[in-house]
Amino acid sequence: MSGDSREHWTGRTGFVLAAVGSAVGLGNMWRFSYLTAEQGGAAFVLLYLLFTALVGLPVMLAEFSIGRGAQRSPIQALGHYGGPRWRWLGGVFVLAGFVILSYYSVIAGWAVRYGVEAALFGFPADASAYFSRVSEGWDAFAYHAAFMALSVIVVRGGVKDGIERAASLMMPALFFLVVGIALYAATLEGASRGYAYYLNVDFSKITDWNVVVSAAGQAFFSLSIGMGVMLTFASYLTRDHDLPGESLLIAVSDFGVAFVAGFMVFPVIFALGLQSDVIGADTGTIGALFIALPKAFATMGDAGRIVGVCFFAALIVGALTSAISLLEVVVSAAIDGLGWGRGQAAVRVGIAIGLLGTPSALGIAFLDAMDTVANQVLLIGGGLGLAVFTGYVMRDPLVAAREGSGGFDWTPVWLPLLRYGVPVILGAILLSSIPATWSKLVALF
Ligand code: TRP
Repeated sequence: MSGDSREHWTGRTGFVLAAVGSAVGLGNMWRFSYLTAEQGGAAFVLLYLLFTALVGLPVMLAEFSIGRGAQRSPIQALGHYGGPRWRWLGGVFVLAGFVILSYYSVIAGWAVRYGVEAALFGFPADASAYFSRVSEGWDAFAYHAAFMALSVIVVRGGVKDGIERAASLMMPALFFLVVGIALYAATLEGASRGYAYYLNVDFSKITDWNVVVSAAGQAFFSLSIGMGVMLTFASYLTRDHDLPGESLLIAVSDFGVAFVAGFMVFPVIFALGLQSDVIGADTGTIGALFIALPKAFATMGDAGRIVGVCFFAALIVGALTSAISLLEVVVSAAIDGLGWGRGQAAVRVGIAIGLLGTPSALGIAFLDAMDTVANQVLLIGGGLGLAVFTGYVMRDPLVAAREGSGGFDWTPVWLPLLRYGVPVILGAILLSSIPATWSKLVALF
């Protein structure tokens, strides 16, 4: 579908909200916080900010320019600008969408169960035992399947009535929840120890290559870039949008929510002396937050229960608006490429991804390996492909990026970054992370 029959957003805010909805999710709250704890606090945050600004933002604008210019889903859009030889990159995007959503939805399922059961019964006394019960097995699969069904319902609704409406209802709610919890956390005794860990930069960590690599992966994951989500969303845009300005707004909002999420997580954890559960916990850091935070909420009485339920509500809302964007990439590829109807495509793709999530629901080691492959290989590789494509293959990238722009125009630095900076940085990161990713995969079998 292209041209006049293509669906479009209602206006500027519809698109921005949906894109922010995609960007803001489990990545900002769960993944950002546990990586910050694991990788050394503020040093990680600083590197992540640098990658967001210097690498992530240019790649996001590249996706926007390709998507809006071509008015097509990723595979067709890359073919449109680069000829059939470039369609494979769109295929990698669709594959990444499959992989990421298959495990993302499992984690979202944990959040749903935590939220529902805490609202009904309060937080469990033994948080570790509870986490082991919730995170693996057929129960986890059931919650994952339920969450997938929810995503399918939204995506079936289409661009305006499904995705845009969901994002405009849920994003403001998420924002108030996150800020409200951060303010509450500030009132806890001992909160300042949390701020100290979160905000004092340990410069020895900045030169630690592992920290650099995971900060890059996190920037891509959190911004929803490197696999065509932003490209697909931009393909539903009309020509009067200010792409440089809107990409900046989206990146700032995404970083902002992650940064504020740190202000809810670290004070709570340090105030209750639970830092050893998350920091330097070499076993199962993935689940650390799902153990430490409920432990904290359980000791804080009624207030803890209310704040805790709000926390999981925010997590679920963020996860849902992100999951629908991942699903949309695969669904739009099926609509454009296979000629399926939207409803049919949403249901079939949803079932396929639901089934693909089975091993992640049954074992957290598998989930962890999928997360590593997706971020350090598929997204970083996808970003590299997008930078090279836009910088060297696309004929008039600046024209595509600038059309409709009227505000602050940072495109003069955009192309040089895409041509020279981004490929070198991402190439180095991709190459260096392959051995570790490979051994993580091999360890599964
Ligand atoms: N950015 C989302 C988050 O932070 C996750 C997400 C949605 C995503 N769409 C994506 C990650 C596309 C990578 C690529 O939770």
